[in-house]
Amino acid sequence: MPHTNAKDHIDAMLHETRVIEPSAAFKATAKVSRADYERLYRQSLDDPDQFWGDVAAELHWFKPWDTVLDWQEPHAKWFVGAQTNVAYNALDRQVERGLGDKKAFIWEGEDGEVRTYTYAELLREVCKAANALEGLGVQAGDRVTLYMPLIPEAAIAMLACARIGAAHSVVFGGFSVSALTDRINDAQSKILITADAGYRRGQPVNLKANADEAAKNTPNLEKILVVRRAGTPVEWQEGRDVWWHDAVGSASEQHQAAALDSEQPLFVLYTSGSTGKPKGVLHTTGGYMVGTYLTTKTVFDLQDDDIYWCTADVGWVTGHSYSVYGPLLNGATVVLYEGAPNQPDWGRFWDIIQKHRVTILYTAPTAIRSFMRQGDDIPAKYDLSSLRLLGSVGEPINPEAWMWYYRTIGGERCPIVDTWWQTETGSIMLTTLPGAFPSKPGSAGLPMFGVEPTLMTHEGDELGPDDGGLLVIKRPWPSMLRTVYGDDERYRKSYWGEIKGVYFAGDGARRDADGYYTIVGRVDDVLNVSGHRLGTMEIESALVGHSSVAEAAVVGKPDEVKGECVVAFITPQLGHTVDAKELRAHVSREIGALARPDAIYITDAMPKTRSGKIMRRFLRQIAAGHDIQGDTSTLEDPSVLERLKATQAV
Ligand code: WTA
Repeated sequence: MPHTNAKDHIDAMLHETRVIEPSAAFKATAKVSRADYERLYRQSLDDPDQFWGDVAAELHWFKPWDTVLDWQEPHAKWFVGAQTNVAYNALDRQVERGLGDKKAFIWEGEDGEVRTYTYAELLREVCKAANALEGLGVQAGDRVTLYMPLIPEAAIAMLACARIGAAHSVVFGGFSVSALTDRINDAQSKILITADAGYRRGQPVNLKANADEAAKNTPNLEKILVVRRAGTPVEWQEGRDVWWHDAVGSASEQHQAAALDSEQPLFVLYTSGSTGKPKGVLHTTGGYMVGTYLTTKTVFDLQDDDIYWCTADVGWVTGHSYSVYGPLLNGATVVLYEGAPNQPDWGRFWDIIQKHRVTILYTAPTAIRSFMRQGDDIPAKYDLSSLRLLGSVGEPINPEAWMWYYRTIGGERCPIVDTWWQTETGSIMLTTLPGAFPSKPGSAGLPMFGVEPTLMTHEGDELGPDDGGLLVIKRPWPSMLRTVYGDDERYRKSYWGEIKGVYFAGDGARRDADGYYTIVGRVDDVLNVSGHRLGTMEIESALVGHSSVAEAAVVGKPDEVKGECVVAFITPQLGHTVDAKELRAHVSREIGALARPDAIYITDAMPKTRSGKIMRRFLRQIAAGHDIQGDTSTLEDPSVLERLKATQAV
């Protein structure tokens, strides 16, 4: 059963009965009414070919499809036989329909620099970048790794890859050398695109130096394309390293978007699973395009004059689908912000909203909780009246944070869309369309078009309302992952093999009498720390890689701001002492700072069954400071628990 902060969360939810209706003013102009939703949702299930065909027809296809869906479980092909191009649809199409002078991106650096790109300008930059990449030997079907700060060039590079038909693999700039190395090798990328450095909390983060380190162990890597962002000194390897401003700066502005097969890989994005190394989630062209296009349009109720800001970094799926592809496919004006929410102070987000007259804000509960902690007087200093819609993503939002967001940021005027989805799903799966349905704080809501969720037991029995269970999806949808890159067996097993015939999301959920789903957290060994997925196994294997550690077990602990934080239990190697500070630095080096344990318990023994399995259930109780509950008789040595309870974490 869900193990994270599920219990507290369920308790809060059970007492949560508020229902918040969208205002009449919002409803009056909303793209989708309740009646529209009901009719279209029904159609999307009863006649998916017609439904998806109609949506897809709003976009440009070089060649139409023969069949909407070819489903050979667990493999789906969407818009079979069609040819299209996501970058063409995001840019050329917008210019052709008269949006050339409309702002596509308003980018703000952490240092306050602002750059804007119209659709015509962005198209030109993407064409130049596509020509430059081709000049470096990139071809359709290749993989290109990106390791970049949130600067416009990151989105330009993604779109340039899409234009050529090369799959990008974006590695979050906060990941370590070793994580970057693994991802380059797994994707077999020949080209890496990075920057000299990015800014984070006022400090330059030396991405190029990490790229140089990674390149020592990535035999397939031929070129490193480097954006000059911070002007920091970099090492340079002639013949391998190329400046972006040289290669892209001198490239032609003319580039014809490739007519790509609908199933051409668009990107690989690595995410943590419950076992082993991160999985390269593969998304393809046509279905992903249609899914992100439709959900951005309807969930965010995009109107022509909206200024839309999704705060996610392009290193995560939210940054792919809702900072870049979805909004550009809709011709929206998108705000991008490079830095931290507290630079130079905790008013930064509100300052950006005030300055650029942001109308739609899409962010994560962890950010909302951090702001909430800083008090209401900070947002009160800013004019947030431009906002008309708020969104939440990445982790369950607790009702208090929801209400704070609603009142203090949204002025009780803006509906909140709590959107549940995953790297694997590609686009939003559950939410309440803002003009169509009331929200219930803490509950994600109803299925999006074409999504058929239900709750099941592990044995595959369907559950009724008010029974907590495993969230599954009963049929394929266009933006679903196609496979795990290079490991189709893992794809079969993890997603369509856990419970026969359905997609297994890995989340536990409840459903109320109105059909609203409330997500209670992961049911596997995946933690959600500040909205970022981390596998406990990954952190454990980093820890045991340290010479002082004999054995490690990692669990999550509820955290007021981060949602969950990382707690490690360590038994030292004989004759070694464990230095907690050094161990944290080690995890940062191996994975990235986001995986650093918040608390470390050093112990001489773990609670194990007689067959040697660590009982993480008890470790979670100890980490949370709870009394030990459950049957301890299967433990080889139950006294271990008492000793652990008496241990101080460091
Ligand atoms: C969690 C992020 C509750 C969930 C888009 C899921 C959520 C995992 C929500 C995917 C939400 C995401 N309410 N939980 N609105 N959105 N999650 O792949 O556990 O980084 O399985 O995708 O985040 O995380 P991922």
